[in-house]
Amino acid sequence: MTTRSERERILKRAHYNAFFIHAKDVMIDLLTDSGTAAMSAEQWGHLMRGDEAYAGSESFFRFEKEAKDLTGYAYIIPTHQGRAAERILFHVAVRHAGTDQAVIPNNIHFDTTRANVEFVGAKAVDLPVAYGLEPRLRKKFKGNMDLLKLENLIQEVGARRIPLIMMTVTNNSNGGQPVSMANLKGVRKIARRHKIPFFLDAARFAENAYFIKTREPGYAGKSVKEIARQMFRLADGCTLSAKKDGLVNMGGLLGIDDKAWAKTARSFLILTEGFPTYGGLSGRDLDALAQGFREVVDEDYLKYRIRSIAYCGEKFLKMGVPIVEPPGGHAVYIDAKAFLPHIPSSAFPALALANELYLAGGIRAVEIGSVMFGDKARMELVRLAFPRRVYTQSHVDYIVEVMHSVVRKKKRIPGYKMIYQEPVMRHFTARFKPVSGPERGYA
Ligand code: F0G
Repeated sequence: MTTRSERERILKRAHYNAFFIHAKDVMIDLLTDSGTAAMSAEQWGHLMRGDEAYAGSESFFRFEKEAKDLTGYAYIIPTHQGRAAERILFHVAVRHAGTDQAVIPNNIHFDTTRANVEFVGAKAVDLPVAYGLEPRLRKKFKGNMDLLKLENLIQEVGARRIPLIMMTVTNNSNGGQPVSMANLKGVRKIARRHKIPFFLDAARFAENAYFIKTREPGYAGKSVKEIARQMFRLADGCTLSAKKDGLVNMGGLLGIDDKAWAKTARSFLILTEGFPTYGGLSGRDLDALAQGFREVVDEDYLKYRIRSIAYCGEKFLKMGVPIVEPPGGHAVYIDAKAFLPHIPSSAFPALALANELYLAGGIRAVEIGSVMFGDKARMELVRLAFPRRVYTQSHVDYIVEVMHSVVRKKKRIPGYKMIYQEPVMRHFTARFKPVSGPERGYA
């Protein structure tokens, strides 16, 4: 615990950017749900079995068996995290497509995915359904892709320029919103008709499967694991950051059905990640991940997690804090622009709210708005992402209490001015100072 005056000093020392705050000075850390899960006793037990052989370790075969059982893909390639799998996949896909004008559609690309698409010289196109971008509209599957827009894109650029179609489940960039099975089937049908490979960005596959079970007609009687399997089987492969629904602190994988693609991927993997039976991970990491895949489809765990996040969102709404509705699978996203109308985008309302949450109660959240995306920002959001198996409902009640105190003083929350930035990924290192009043043109 720290006092408000201590946190004022800490935040100032951190240049008003939460990424610079030392974790020990944070009371509730909601910066990300990535790599922050608490591993179970079983997973720690499996770590002890790690076989660290360079090639062909037992740990790899245990991991491969579990990943194949879940996804069904013929080739399972371990990577150190999700973005490594992305880098390899887009390299392979563009090379096999043989075009230098590749276009890759997605419901919405996560930022590392977009960056990796652009890195291989391809164009990343987002095709979300229109209602997916309306924060206040309560729909069951706001993560869906607009199938008509997908058809139009294929007509416009031609299937030969599209090396693959990707779908992010759940859709992190619009609030962790789920994708329905019907939508996945729709994308698959279009992909098949045009002979375009179809891949999932499956970082949060278990949360997406749970939403399908509880929201989509016809799935209530199926297990989350069966639903997850069905999602994976609709696609020809996946990238997966295991730092989310793998319940591990580090890890990822690339799953592929196509033999030729897998061959190219493996040779590229050796360049940067390592031999194909460890791919940048220790044997023990692979064992912990194999166990994580077994645990994450546990429906009691998923129910508690998703309910806690919904509970937090409902409490926020009750006190007049606008959020992306309904709350998603891994986070509550606050609409800071609507909450702090006195702060214009040029003075970073989402950063202002994130900083106030820290000052009021030591809660660390992340800005997803003009600091992160500059003038391309669609919204000014604050994301409160929940690490898995770390916080309980009483922590959520604490967050709600802190938010109450923020609501009471919201008119006095200052905006910020950016006083230092780097040319790429500026949000990690930018420095700020609080401003208010006439110098920024608002009171
Ligand atoms: N895809 C999605 C949908 C993600 O949310 C992330 C990471 C990645 C891919 C990349 O995976 O970090 O293992 O390389 N999201 C984290 C977050 C960083 O905070 O949302 P990675």
